[in-house]
Amino acid sequence: SSPVLQASNNGDRVFNFEENKAPDIKRSDFPPGFIFGAATSAYQVEGAYLQDAKSLSNWDVFCHSKGCSADGENGDIADDHYNLFLGDIDAMHSIGLDSYRFSISWARILPRGRFGEINPAGIMFYNKIIDNLILKGIEPFVTINHNDLPQELEDRYGSWLNPQMQEDFLYLAEVCFKSFGDRVKYWVTINEPNMFIELAYELGIFPPSRCSEPFGNCIHGNSDVEPLMAMHNMLLAHGRAAKLYHESGLIGLVAHCYMYEPLTDSELDREAAKRAFAFNVGWPLDPSVFGDYPEEMRKYLGNKLPSFSFQEQNFMKNSIDFIGINHYSAIYTKDCTNSSCSAMGNCEIQGFLDKLVERDGVLIGERTGLEYLFVVPRGMEEIVNLIKIRYNNKPMFITENGKCYSSPNLQEQQVSELVNDVKRIEYHTSYLAYLAKSMRDGADVRGYFVWSFMDGYEWLEGYNVRFGLYYVDRKTLTRVPKLSAKWYKNFLTNNSVLI
Ligand code: NOJ
Repeated sequence: SSPVLQASNNGDRVFNFEENKAPDIKRSDFPPGFIFGAATSAYQVEGAYLQDAKSLSNWDVFCHSKGCSADGENGDIADDHYNLFLGDIDAMHSIGLDSYRFSISWARILPRGRFGEINPAGIMFYNKIIDNLILKGIEPFVTINHNDLPQELEDRYGSWLNPQMQEDFLYLAEVCFKSFGDRVKYWVTINEPNMFIELAYELGIFPPSRCSEPFGNCIHGNSDVEPLMAMHNMLLAHGRAAKLYHESGLIGLVAHCYMYEPLTDSELDREAAKRAFAFNVGWPLDPSVFGDYPEEMRKYLGNKLPSFSFQEQNFMKNSIDFIGINHYSAIYTKDCTNSSCSAMGNCEIQGFLDKLVERDGVLIGERTGLEYLFVVPRGMEEIVNLIKIRYNNKPMFITENGKCYSSPNLQEQQVSELVNDVKRIEYHTSYLAYLAKSMRDGADVRGYFVWSFMDGYEWLEGYNVRFGLYYVDRKTLTRVPKLSAKWYKNFLTNNSVLI
């Protein structure tokens, strides 16, 4: 069998590069000033969906209309972080986080986008978060947009499908920079445009549920062109906002980055892995660094792929100070340009985004609580190296990395399993070990955020999929530190002993 397959059979178990044992990774293996944090996003934790003049977001409407997640739940209450944030910040402080990455609810600060007033209560909420973080010595790391937007912008003009959305995003960014820019030094314009657009406009499973061939809740769309248009508007919105930013901080974009591995060692499968990387990771990142889409995309998509004008290329180019990498898993790719994409294992044939690449669900590593995420720690080193090479070692942050447990029909005994999350600790230590290795080889990585600070609402899975360092009891919303929270605290204080 091919070397690739051999590697994957034991790859996820090889923590120590030579001795095949759990890594002894320490904070001191990372440079001084390296930021360790944890992350959340507004819709997933805030709740308070109608409190203090917030308007309805696309997710509020989506979840209320037909049940958006497998468990029929929604983010109306989520973790009620909106009301419980002070205790949460105390918990972050007790772990010793350097930074907290959170996102702004657009509908909370601009309930009607640029067609209405700024909501002072919304601004006040984020001011309180930021001030309390700073008071505890925790650096705010702010994502301006993470999947949610005021429903009015969808209803009025079709949100990201319309260039008008650029004006709205620009206004949102301006309000954020003016209100919080004196204290926030790390900004992300948009979280995972590649994943959001694929789910919303190609597969139709995120609002506004558009795709060509309706399945499930999908309404009419055109999966061939709409994702390209929506991404184009998103990227221009990002570029224009970045151009507007003149403070002394850093601004970046976050991409969802699978490590794509060829299923076999054949030339064709290796090409397929490269194409998958370009069509997913390169799609938002190439324009933000080089000012234009990846060549691989142009080659296959021709004029379907929108173009940037000369002036647009200029402001898109180097519109980011850092690349935000959300990395969870690796996935096999198989060429389908020469052979037909037959179903193998849990294979999922992607449309144009991967351009004739078959993603395969054959076990590439140990499974997690989400069927498409596998534990492949070496993928961290590989993806960081790929991104380092393609983008000339632009500064990087690992803006998300984490492992979930699934917990349908929760029983008492399961709770203790969820809280004693030894596998999560293993996940983080092994991924961190490979991250440190890539940094020893010269990758300019500046920080690492655990996804997630606490169990929250998982978009399509609801509350049955738990990523948190803190367990959240759904009835009482009590937060309970998991073993991983204790591990992180010990790691951050440089103790290698767990308790
Ligand atoms: C990345 C997304 O940014 C986040 O919102 C989500 O919860 C995690 N992936 C896990 O699926």
